[in-house]
Amino acid sequence: MSAGHALEGTVCGGSPQISIVVPCYNEVANVAPLVTMLEKVLAGRSWEVIFVDDHSPDGTTGAVREQARQKPYVRGICRIGRRGLSSAVIEGVLSSSAQVVVVMDGDLQHDESRIVALIEAVISGTCDIAVGSRHVEGGSNAGLANAWRRALSDGGIWLAQCFLPVKLTDPMSGFFALRQETFAAIAPRLSGAGFKILLDLLLSSEKPLTVQEVACGFRPRVAGESKLDAVVMLQFAALLLEKFSRGMVPLRFVAFCLVGLVGVGVNLGVMQMTRLLGVEFSTAQGIGSVAAMVVNFFLDNSFTYRDRRLRGRRCLWGLVLFMLVCSVGAVADVGVAHMMYAQSYKLNEASLAGAVLAVVWNYAMSATIIWRPR
Ligand code: GDD
Ligand code: MN
Repeated sequence: MSAGHALEGTVCGGSPQISIVVPCYNEVANVAPLVTMLEKVLAGRSWEVIFVDDHSPDGTTGAVREQARQKPYVRGICRIGRRGLSSAVIEGVLSSSAQVVVVMDGDLQHDESRIVALIEAVISGTCDIAVGSRHVEGGSNAGLANAWRRALSDGGIWLAQCFLPVKLTDPMSGFFALRQETFAAIAPRLSGAGFKILLDLLLSSEKPLTVQEVACGFRPRVAGESKLDAVVMLQFAALLLEKFSRGMVPLRFVAFCLVGLVGVGVNLGVMQMTRLLGVEFSTAQGIGSVAAMVVNFFLDNSFTYRDRRLRGRRCLWGLVLFMLVCSVGAVADVGVAHMMYAQSYKLNEASLAGAVLAVVWNYAMSATIIWRPR
């Protein structure tokens, strides 16, 4: 029996041998059509599809449950209070007991007819990971909505290539297959933030993964819309920095500092404006600091801690806590700067030391108290 057939045959009581993991956010109209497409291409094989939905407001999980009630090979994971494509894929793959997992988008943009080629490449042992590529002979990225998206994708590919230990024409792809055990071995080292789970896998693996690319099309979306936005692109850049620094500069800390820089701008701007209104300096500085804290809180809540976003009363309580934490940070900042200046450190050195202490304090308290992992 060739290895390729080793996966054939119906489910004999045990778990399926192929899991298709589909991260979803607001894909309600695509669930049933995708199941039908998978039934066609995987007929006669032992497979299941696992939709991982982040409590989409459009009722995606309801559509998955409807399918699952009729078809035992359809499963759903509904995540509440957690967001993110990569972390959804991680939870979906780790919930599988199959030999091989395939990751694909839930918006029908990936060409499902290429799934068998991806699986065969992995089962035949010619590679650790088989990737559906839009940029090899026969591939296409026609589904990228416009020239801006194509330029963004090409720019991302170029940037990723600078860091990757293996050459890929499409490291941005979200369509790939690998053995479940390969994924599970790497999982503890994955960053799990943002969109680019394939990149995260390739950069987190201790030994470079062997890759085989399979040409695949990328169709235009037929329903729903892309969730890729500037935040995702910033997360992508921060992922590269985190991996490049071997984890020394966690993704979140980079994001927290970027937001902090925005806060410095807000502080200066508001302080200048209040000074123009004749307010004396220390009051103007105090108003500027409060404005900066409020802006920083809401930016951190939507960007830095997007996957643990606080809503409603929790958000209000979070803002109060954040301002308390930052006020302590500000007092420590001034105290340390003052002390160092008194010990005849240069003005900039003293001020920088105070600012670094405040950032580390604010970051540590935010991560452990305000946006603590749930
Ligand atoms: N669970 C969950 N949580 N799923 C998500 C989230 C999220 O926060 N954001 C997006 N998804 C799902 C979408 O529902 C879709 O099924 C898939 O992830 C891809 O998201 P899109 O918003 O459609 O991304 P795209 O069209 O811009 O695709 C680009 O990024 C994908 C992910 O890397 C392309 O590069 C694709 O090749 C790539 O797969
Ligand atoms: Mn898409």
